[in-house]
Amino acid sequence: MSSQPPNPLPALTNLVGFSERNGCWFAEEIPLTQLAEQFGTPLYIYSKRALETAFAAYERACFTLKGKRRASIFFAVKANSNLAVMNCFKELGAGFDLVSGGELDRALTIGAKPSSLVFAGVGKSATEIRQALTAGVKCLNVESIAELEQINRIARELSCRAPISLRVNPDVDALTHPYISTGLKDNKFGIAYHEVLKTYREAALLAQLDIVGIDCHIGSQITATAPYLDAIDKVLDLVTQLKKEGIILRHLDLGGGLGIDYGPEDPPAITEFTTTILDHVAARGFEDLEILLEPGRSLVGNAGILITRVEYLKHGASKNFCVVDAAMNDLMRPALYGAYHSIVAVQQQAAEPLTYDVVGPVCESGDWLGKDRLLAVKATDLLAILSAGAYGFTMSSNYNSRPRAAEIMVDGDRAFVIRERETVAELWSKERLLPK
Ligand code: LLP
Repeated sequence: MSSQPPNPLPALTNLVGFSERNGCWFAEEIPLTQLAEQFGTPLYIYSKRALETAFAAYERACFTLKGKRRASIFFAVKANSNLAVMNCFKELGAGFDLVSGGELDRALTIGAKPSSLVFAGVGKSATEIRQALTAGVKCLNVESIAELEQINRIARELSCRAPISLRVNPDVDALTHPYISTGLKDNKFGIAYHEVLKTYREAALLAQLDIVGIDCHIGSQITATAPYLDAIDKVLDLVTQLKKEGIILRHLDLGGGLGIDYGPEDPPAITEFTTTILDHVAARGFEDLEILLEPGRSLVGNAGILITRVEYLKHGASKNFCVVDAAMNDLMRPALYGAYHSIVAVQQQAAEPLTYDVVGPVCESGDWLGKDRLLAVKATDLLAILSAGAYGFTMSSNYNSRPRAAEIMVDGDRAFVIRERETVAELWSKERLLPK
């Protein structure tokens, strides 16, 4: 996860879809001031071009020099589950990595093919397993023997077969924030490395299961390639061993996790990174394995921003505060992980630049969006919080009875509402008073 960099901050460059022109920020061809005027704030804005560009960067690496597909993209819906965003990826040819019945319903709602869906998660309920088997997903990624038995029982009930893969915990340090590191032996995820072969043998004895693959996911916002190569080596050793025992796997799912540039970091570029890991698998002689990738953040993170209006400037005893109308309920990452997001003034102002903590109106000191930011702003100005397209809206909440923000997708010089702003009345529409 991002550490807090020094001030003045490194400017976030190479953004596709968002740019500054003569002191004014644009989403593709539309000034952000115009979008704020039209749709209000706080407002999530996505660039279609940025989604397409990131997807194309993955696709470039997904083919061999001879033009044969060697890997496919299953967008991790948890990063951004808006139907319009998912639909863009579907149109580009993506499948989806799902972790709940809700995400599965979203994928089916946009008409995704069941064969393009993988269903993961450490605690799938019986209802969700039933839902996934009934839909006919490509694979369930399984994390324990107890879950294998549960899937086998439900498949018997439904008189169907259950395609499964085991999620390996390779005990590799992804060198990221502890909350989003998932491949260490202390993490709750996956099957302990030394238990994996035994678990496959047990799976092979369960009548309704079709063993189709193996998977691992070592964490998120990873900015180094080496941990992936270590994890891949460990997983491929298992594939070799299983083959000797007559358990032939069809696919290898390498999870997601590639980091993005939030300002201070320098992650590998999507195409180079993906080429490196795919070449690594091929070099070990596993060309026949179908490879699945589950990127989330690297497809949408830098394709979205959150714009917010300055309510007040407040000069405290030791700090200046820029109080804005977005809060931790809109973008939780700073409060939860201490995550860094670049913040820029949407329109250059003549105001005196001062160092501010950018904070929201929620009643918690943890409600901050940026610390020690040099900004030239005055009340009513707009700020853009960059790199908010992944785990932004999806992690937002109604804390303090704040309706969730609207979401807009910009395509060239056109803007579309892809989620209306919630109304306050919607917040209690499912609540009931006790009878008198
Ligand atoms: N596959 C699996 C099994 C995952 O658990 C995840 C993310 C992904 C794929 C996608 O990873 P990505 O490419 O987006 O890194 N809320 C946190 C991130 C949590 C990631 C959870 N798992 C954040 O805001 O940084």
